[in-house]
Order: sequence, then C-alpha cells, then structure tokens
Amino acid sequence: MLANGLSLDDIGSQAFNCQACNLAKGRLNVVFGVGNPLSGAIFIGEAPGAQEDELGLPFVGRSGKLLRELMVKAGLSIDNDLYLTNIVKCRPPGNRTPSRAEIDACSYFIDSQMAIIKPKTIVLIGSLALKSILKINLPISQIRGKWLDYGSDCQAMAIFHPAYLLRFGQGLPNSPSEVTLLDLRKIYSRIDKLKSI
Ligand code: URA
Repeated sequence: MLANGLSLDDIGSQAFNCQACNLAKGRLNVVFGVGNPLSGAIFIGEAPGAQEDELGLPFVGRSGKLLRELMVKAGLSIDNDLYLTNIVKCRPPGNRTPSRAEIDACSYFIDSQMAIIKPKTIVLIGSLALKSILKINLPISQIRGKWLDYGSDCQAMAIFHPAYLLRFGQGLPNSPSEVTLLDLRKIYSRIDKLKSI
C-alpha cells in the first residue's frame, strides 16, 4: 500500500538515513517498527530505550518484555494482529522523554506509517503517544481503557506505559498490570472482531 507513492519500506529507508534531529548522532539503530502492517491495528509507544537501540526493535527491554507478555496473555500476536512502533524512532540519551523538537522532527514517520497502515484500531501506549496522536493532555489513569473515536471508522484506546507497570507488583488484583491486561483483552476482542468483517 502506498502513501504519496511511497511504501512502508521506502519510509523505513528514509528513517534509516534520517539526520533531522540530534538523536541521529547518538543512535546505534533506528527503531522503525515491527509486526503486520496489513492488520489494521497500530500500537504506538514513546521512544526506544537502550535495548531497543541495540537491537533495532521496539519494546524488547525490561518494560517491553512485560508489555509483550501481557499482549500474549491477551491473545495478541505481534506478527499477525498489529504493527508496533513509537512516536520517536531514535533513542533519547539516558532514556529521557523526547523533546518537542525531536517529536516534531520525527512526526513525518509516524504520520506516514499511519497513512499507509490506515488503522481501524490505534493503541496509545503511555501519555506521550496519547498527547501526540490524540492531542489529549489528560493523565492516562483518567482515560485508559475507553474507546475514543478517531475519524469515521477508527477507534483509539490509551493504555498505561509498561515502564509504569514495573513500579507495582505484577498480577495482583487491580494492579496496573492486571488493569492493562483487561484493556489488552478488550483490544484483542475488537481486532479479532474486525478480522471477520
Ligand atoms: N518504551 C517505549 O515507549 N518504546 C519502546 O520501544 C521501548 C520502551
């Protein structure tokens, strides 16, 4: 599928050569995205951390592994059911939050990924993704778990960032990780239902 004549691979090649902000200087790899671009679902995090930068893959560090475990528990396959990426494609030093200028410099890539994937389901992992995509500045705790309209035939849901889940015990009733598992189950239901339409 093409956007302005460009495929996802074309946009990926542009990202691998990108020098639009200072993060290019410190990166080992550009973390562009993985998964199924034809799934109709996109999961969007914040920015790569150290392990993601080393491997060139999103959500493979400590918090990423927790998110992936919860996705599997909820029935979601990254290879088949969704495309997983971040707002910012290069690692901010020391894992700091990306700056406004870095987010703006990188917005071409997430905008292009969205234009090509044409998602019917968007999952915003943490408040930076929520703010960048939906322009909503509320704490995730107030908005997570709810389907929000995004255009005419797409819905978006925000979930806690997995780095936040790591601050609490895992698997305890009502813990942020259990709440996130329930959110991911809702997301799975929607993605699964849309497969048969
Ligand atoms: N946190 C994110 O938001 N994205 C990653 O890829 C890894 C950690």
